Amino acid sequence: MPILVSIITVFEELYKPFLQTSLLGRACQAKLIDVFVENLFSHAQPKKRIDAPAYGPGAGMLIRPDIVQRAIEKREQESGKAFKIFFSPQGQKIDQRLLERLAEKIRSIGHVMLIAPRYEGVDARAEEVYADSVLSIGDFVLMGGDLPALLFLEAFLRLIPGVVGCKESVERDSFSGPFVDYPSFTEPLVWLGRQVPDILRSGNHDLIEKWRLDQAAKKTVLQHFAWLRVTRTNDYQQESAWKHIPPHYVVLLHSDVLVGPDLVEGTTSVTSLDIHDIARSATTYGFKKFFIVTPLLDQQKIVNKLLDFWQNEEGKDYNPNRYQALERVLLLSSLDEVVAYIHKMENEFALLIGTSADRKEHTNAITFFDQEKVWAAKRPVLFLLGTGNGLSGSVIQKTDFFLEPIYGFMKFNHLSVRSAAAILFDRWLGLSPRS
Ligand SMILES: C[S@@+](CC[C@H](N)C(=O)[O-])C[C@H]1O[C@@H](n2cnc3c(N)ncnc32)[C@H](O)[C@@H]1O
Repeated sequence: MPILVSIITVFEELYKPFLQTSLLGRACQAKLIDVFVENLFSHAQPKKRIDAPAYGPGAGMLIRPDIVQRAIEKREQESGKAFKIFFSPQGQKIDQRLLERLAEKIRSIGHVMLIAPRYEGVDARAEEVYADSVLSIGDFVLMGGDLPALLFLEAFLRLIPGVVGCKESVERDSFSGPFVDYPSFTEPLVWLGRQVPDILRSGNHDLIEKWRLDQAAKKTVLQHFAWLRVTRTNDYQQESAWKHIPPHYVVLLHSDVLVGPDLVEGTTSVTSLDIHDIARSATTYGFKKFFIVTPLLDQQKIVNKLLDFWQNEEGKDYNPNRYQALERVLLLSSLDEVVAYIHKMENEFALLIGTSADRKEHTNAITFFDQEKVWAAKRPVLFLLGTGNGLSGSVIQKTDFFLEPIYGFMKFNHLSVRSAAAILFDRWLGLSPRS
């Protein structure tokens, strides 16, 4: 049985060439799909319009709900109940996962109806009554729903068995899993001085598979991290992706911070809770080291006492998880020592990312969505956490980037540094699958 597709539109003529071309043309000919295009104008009373001005102040014409009703009812009387999709910029954004879910539903019903409005859209009640799904193709506004309907049709039909010849290529394409597609090459072997990677001609299928996965993971981390973090991954996929995230470090500064009512540069006292909690958060999100910086000997003594216990057998026996977290804590006397330490470990200077609760503008500001910008430099990353009243001007001057503050709807913004660290780590490196 073909999948029935009903399209309700003002511009019938847009669909014909599209449906006669390429794989969709072949799918129609092969009767994998059967398309009916219904013109809204044929449902208006003689000499009456299909649209009317919106109630209330402001410009804009809307398609009348009774016209939409007649078109939908006619198509359902002729072809049976349909899964009805309206298109609107306010709808749910289409992605591959949503398409797969909708394709499954539509396949079981056998009939999909695409309602493609024009003008300012349809009367809100038509959507309320009829829409099984309202879809958006992105956060921008077109002049009508026809291109969204065609876009949906092409993406949806690709998932109908037989429409695309090679099932394997559909299953492996970008966004069918957590990674985008790997880079592919064809003839000529050398073009503009660029050669196809040798491995692809090695004949070793295992190695080629590994190479492709690695390339796909790299491209996803560096260009589509937002997709990766909301998509479910297995251990192997996580390891493959993690390899392409530059090493991360964090430092908690008890010097070079602002203190007192006059906000002068000074030092603060260490807090064992901060050390424990930030170490546990840092371990959860894969930070290689958590540095505590204090130049004060009495403060260093306190930290050393804590670390002496937790970084030794006694602490390990007492609580192995806590040992694992505190193992990565390192006490140093200054930020310069931290920078030198990372350079020694990584053979590369770290990018310094400042943090603050203050919403002051910074010329090097980044947001929690700028991982790709930072990681493109392929340098280790060091987050600077302040204590007291925050990082001093001299430290801020050294930063390569300054992260926007964490804040909510309230005016109150006084998170403890350990809470801020946990939120920051999660927003920067956390995985949060949507389904
Ligand atoms: C000019 S738009 C109406 C925009 C509407 N007043 C708003 O601001 O949300 C007219 C029609 O184009 C279609 N359309 C425009 N942008 C779209 C998008 N990003 N995704 C899906 N449909 C869109 C919808 O069918 C919409 O009803």
